[in-house]
Amino acid sequence: MAAHYQIEGSTSAAISASVERGIRDGGFAPGDPLPAVRALATELALSPATVARAYQELRQRGLVVTAGRHGTRVRPRPPVASRRAGLLPPPLPGARNLSAGQPDPRLLPPLGPRLAALAAEIGPPTGYAANAVVPDLADAARERLSADGVPAAEITVTGGALDGIERLLAAHLRPGDAVAVEDPGWANLLDLVAALGLRAIGVPVDDEGLTAPGVRAALAAGARALIVTSRAQNPTGAAVSADRADALRALLAGRSDLLLIEDDHAAELARVPLHPLAGATPAWAFVRSVSKPYGPDLRLAVLAGDEATVARVAGRARVGAGWVSTVLQRLVLALWRDPATAGLVDRAGASYERRRNGLVDALAAHGVAAHGRTGINVWVPVPDETVVVTALRDAGWSVAPGVINRIAAAPGVRITVSPLDEADLAPLAAAVARAVRPSAPFGFTA
Ligand SMILES: Cc1ncc(COP(=O)(O)O)c(C=O)c1O
Repeated sequence: MAAHYQIEGSTSAAISASVERGIRDGGFAPGDPLPAVRALATELALSPATVARAYQELRQRGLVVTAGRHGTRVRPRPPVASRRAGLLPPPLPGARNLSAGQPDPRLLPPLGPRLAALAAEIGPPTGYAANAVVPDLADAARERLSADGVPAAEITVTGGALDGIERLLAAHLRPGDAVAVEDPGWANLLDLVAALGLRAIGVPVDDEGLTAPGVRAALAAGARALIVTSRAQNPTGAAVSADRADALRALLAGRSDLLLIEDDHAAELARVPLHPLAGATPAWAFVRSVSKPYGPDLRLAVLAGDEATVARVAGRARVGAGWVSTVLQRLVLALWRDPATAGLVDRAGASYERRRNGLVDALAAHGVAAHGRTGINVWVPVPDETVVVTALRDAGWSVAPGVINRIAAAPGVRITVSPLDEADLAPLAAAVARAVRPSAPFGFTA
């Protein structure tokens, strides 16, 4: 813990290296406070400006966050691998883990048969020169995206949605630039934005997506990029509606100073129509991952956009990682073409929908409002995350505190429905209701 970790150094670089070492070695856990600037300066007999510079450097690299009177703390998931990760206490024996945000492994297509078929048709090993986007995959992606109203003349492939978003942000923005993100939003994205040294501006979300006044305010505050989750927003399950898409398109029209990024990670699982914003701004990208319907281990997303934006992403990849393995590209193509897989993905979407709606309805019967229009999560606004997470853990359910998803949004907990069976919904809803509203004090009447 922080109290036991001694930060050392006589220069700002040495102090920030010492803090980083502390994070790696487990001396600092995620969320731990760092000493106040003045206190550490006194302890190390240095000027406060030297310590402040060290903290600023750590902040720009996304290792720590400074939040007003709460001081400076280690970020929930700093971009430094920690040896401590392996030492984290295991979940309580018997507790059901609903905190992971993972698709249901029972509903992911088995890869074995498709890999076996691929083995028969794949040609001789290829070298560096021949590799890029597999033309048949590009054609199939174009067809799928165009059918959903996304202009897909220009297309490339990335190692998942977040890899695509990282390449887009790195190609268009500079450290210190502001990025408008959903609040509450996807924790990994908030971590990435911090790790790139960018500033996140939180935009409120309702069930129809980013609110128009929130986007207007973010634009006025100087946002250089806007990231929109089309469907299955994480953590609220929001999906951009037709009306909201119209309103946002009108707001964004002609903004040549803004990069618009859409993340359609739920893709074939979403079960609500896509209302894309693609093309509303001159610089735009639409990223569709295969992780949720077909499996996160495929590490693949297709990225469409305007010609200059796609060229930046593809060109930057070429001078770095190179390309996404054509073996994976062919595997995804085989999954897309397989009617049995399409049937499974359809059943998976229906199953998530039943479990999500079942949980939201069961919670409503207890007077607890919750959100979950699409996707694999249900978001429950709560008065105090720690109280609710602890009470639910004691009742045998592990849920995710919303603190890792939030900038200024109100507290909540995220419940992933993937591990749930329908018989779990009533007891879980009852446990959530008890945790959200612990019994009133004796003698209290409302
Ligand atoms: C909002 C959002 N986008 C994208 C993804 C998937 O990203 P990737 O394609 O990098 O696996 C997730 C996974 O949880 C997500 O919640």
